Amino acid sequence: MATGSRSRGERPYHIIVFGASGFTGRFVLEEVARAASAGLGGTLRWAIAGRNRGRLERVLHQAAQDLSKPELRSVEIIVADVAQPESLEIMCKQGVVVLNCVGPYRFYGEPVVKACIDNGAHYIDICGEPQFLEGVQLKYHSKAQEEGVYVIGSCGFDSIPADMGMLYTRSQFKGTLTAVESFLTVSTGPEGGCGHDATWQSAIFGFADSTSLRSLRKKFGHKPLPVVGAAIKKRGSLFYSKEIEQYSIPFMGSDPSVVRRTQRYLHQEHQQSPVQYAAYVCIGGAFSVLKTLFAGLMFWLMTKFSIGRSVLIQFPEIFSFGVFSKAGPSKKQMEGTSFCLSFFGEGYSDGWDPSQGKPDAAITTQIKGPEPGYVATPITMVQAAITLLNEPQFLPNMGGVYTPGSAFARTTLIDRLNKHGVQFCLMNAQKT
Ligand SMILES: NC(=O)c1ccc[n+]([C@@H]2O[C@H](COP(=O)([O-])OP(=O)(O)OC[C@H]3O[C@@H](n4cnc5c(N)ncnc54)[C@H](OP(=O)(O)O)[C@@H]3O)[C@@H](O)[C@H]2O)c1
Repeated sequence: MATGSRSRGERPYHIIVFGASGFTGRFVLEEVARAASAGLGGTLRWAIAGRNRGRLERVLHQAAQDLSKPELRSVEIIVADVAQPESLEIMCKQGVVVLNCVGPYRFYGEPVVKACIDNGAHYIDICGEPQFLEGVQLKYHSKAQEEGVYVIGSCGFDSIPADMGMLYTRSQFKGTLTAVESFLTVSTGPEGGCGHDATWQSAIFGFADSTSLRSLRKKFGHKPLPVVGAAIKKRGSLFYSKEIEQYSIPFMGSDPSVVRRTQRYLHQEHQQSPVQYAAYVCIGGAFSVLKTLFAGLMFWLMTKFSIGRSVLIQFPEIFSFGVFSKAGPSKKQMEGTSFCLSFFGEGYSDGWDPSQGKPDAAITTQIKGPEPGYVATPITMVQAAITLLNEPQFLPNMGGVYTPGSAFARTTLIDRLNKHGVQFCLMNAQKT
């Protein structure tokens, strides 16, 4: 297992899963255990960390039983609490990469990023909160570069499929890809499915604080990215997608923000022409439209007031119409759930000038995978870490704060994901 730096090579652990006692952390731990037994590129040394040793021990015992791997009972435990910087320092000194599963990140993330940078550990998280991700970039990019540390946020379902999917779509397009729309569909089995409480809370606080995201973005002082070719289609906030044959709404997660940051990086650092992007989620038929409109309106109103936010936090099942719950999805629900992210791109085939006339070529690609939050997310997070450990020479020259697409554009991350059940495929490419 390569580690990217001589001093890091001497650390006891390649990977530390921080927050392994959390709902998602437990599945990340299991995914690391699978990767370790697959022996990807050598012996993977790893440990788990969190604030409560007893809970972490119980999680290891459970994983040992569920995966029939009794050896997991002896995985090392590091006790570290976000509120105790010395404990984070001790943790970060021991690992090459810290997988941070402690969220909501707006409350708990920054001390971990700082401790990683100060102590030379690379940092990967599964944050879907643009304000945290962009705030970390603004505040820590230069420091992370100086220290040669990679800080790579949003390596879960938010937003590896969207970000790497855009790179994949561009790589399959013969010519200049100029605009892509993505449509997410999530299918559940007879048991239904849901997300866990912490993600619901992240959404509530993110939505309530959306004005500070706008002022944060001004601080970057970025000029708008140039629009190459025809402008991307303008869609309403609710429309019927002929492509998917379902009603669709704009995707409110971190995907558009992460993809835009990657496109900016590739444009500025590698002179690639930026691809316009819009993300949508399919919500089904007329009845789902009514439910979504009602839930959306309630959510919007209630996030404006602290009492409304407390009520939303207390009763996720009621106010999300079962999309989120305090208990999170059951094993059966997770087994019955899958996602499909379809990308519809257009552009100009080789020899056509994007500044003249309409696009003459179209492409459709898809990413299919298992349940997004707690099956696909651990896979994408762990494969991101394995890629960082094994292919540091293909990451950007210096450390810094990166999106998955800017960090992993030249690596084999997509191939690795294909081998682990998150599958990228070209559906068709044609002249229009
Ligand atoms: N990108 C994606 O698609 C995706 C998917 C899934 C989850 N997520 C995100 O991942 C994060 C975690 O979600 P979750 O559902 O797993 O949440 P969770 O079940 O509430 O787990 C939170 C974890 O953080 C730990 N923690 C809390 N305060 C801490 C502190 N002061 N010091 C150290 N550890 C602390 C908890 O430890 P204890 O066990 O000791 O309480 C627990 O291990 C959320 O931000 C969520 O949005 C993202």
